[in-house]
Amino acid sequence: MYSEEELQRSLTTQIFGRKLFVYDSIDSTNSHAKILANKGAEEGTVVIADHQTDGRGRFGRTWQAESGNNLLFTIIIRPTFSIDKIGLLPFFAAAGIALAVETVTGMQCECKWPNDILLNDKKCCGILMESTFQQNKLDYVIIGIGLNVNQKNFLGDLEGKATSLSSECSTEFDKRNVFCQIMSSLESLYTYVRKGDFKSVLMEWKARAAIFGKRIMLTQAGNIIDGVAIALADDGGLIVETRTGQHVFHAGNVTIAKQQINDTLRKKN
Ligand code: BTN
Repeated sequence: MYSEEELQRSLTTQIFGRKLFVYDSIDSTNSHAKILANKGAEEGTVVIADHQTDGRGRFGRTWQAESGNNLLFTIIIRPTFSIDKIGLLPFFAAAGIALAVETVTGMQCECKWPNDILLNDKKCCGILMESTFQQNKLDYVIIGIGLNVNQKNFLGDLEGKATSLSSECSTEFDKRNVFCQIMSSLESLYTYVRKGDFKSVLMEWKARAAIFGKRIMLTQAGNIIDGVAIALADDGGLIVETRTGQHVFHAGNVTIAKQQINDTLRKKN
């Protein structure tokens, strides 16, 4: 259970988390943040909960997280950069969280396009971003973050695919400390992002990219694209080399293939 006062006292940020809405249980921190943002909540407002009854993931999935053991929160931002940069925002969130996770664990994170964070090849953090526009301009973006902190068991679909900081480090973490670290590293990257300068963000993300040069399966609207992840396009798209040439993808779920690429490349010629 969080106390708003305690969290506020531990934060060293100027914007992120200065307005905090703290809940024991809520349907979804993203859904609640959306309501607040529609009512005009200021940039940096955070909604955080110990438990979600309807936690949402990407592609309409459910986000499963053991009550009390994980970080579940959403940040509202109101960027003013030009709309064509919106595809770069996921890298901001992923890079900021990866930096914070590395600081608290001492481990190296990997980033999977566009914004999953992995520890030892397993996902420890998922990010769900939802943008709202008004007359072709960005009104606000909510960044929903689910970071597995002290959860030990991942069952069913999650077995072998998900992990937590404590599972990888064999120690318990103070969630408040992890949260404050994330707020700080996101806020320092946001000083650039706010002006539309994504250079340092992309540098941090690329330094941790888990997929380049690897064979991946990209699932998009029921289709599976099989190819090698080559690079990031300028707009954040993923350039994939397939049997029919290079293509850029802007959405989809990436899985790193167990069987790597030599075979695929051979078949191509
Ligand atoms: C993913 O599918 O990888 C993204 C998962 C995002 C989950 C977080 S938990 C806090 C916030 N509230 C939600 O309902 N979802 C996000």
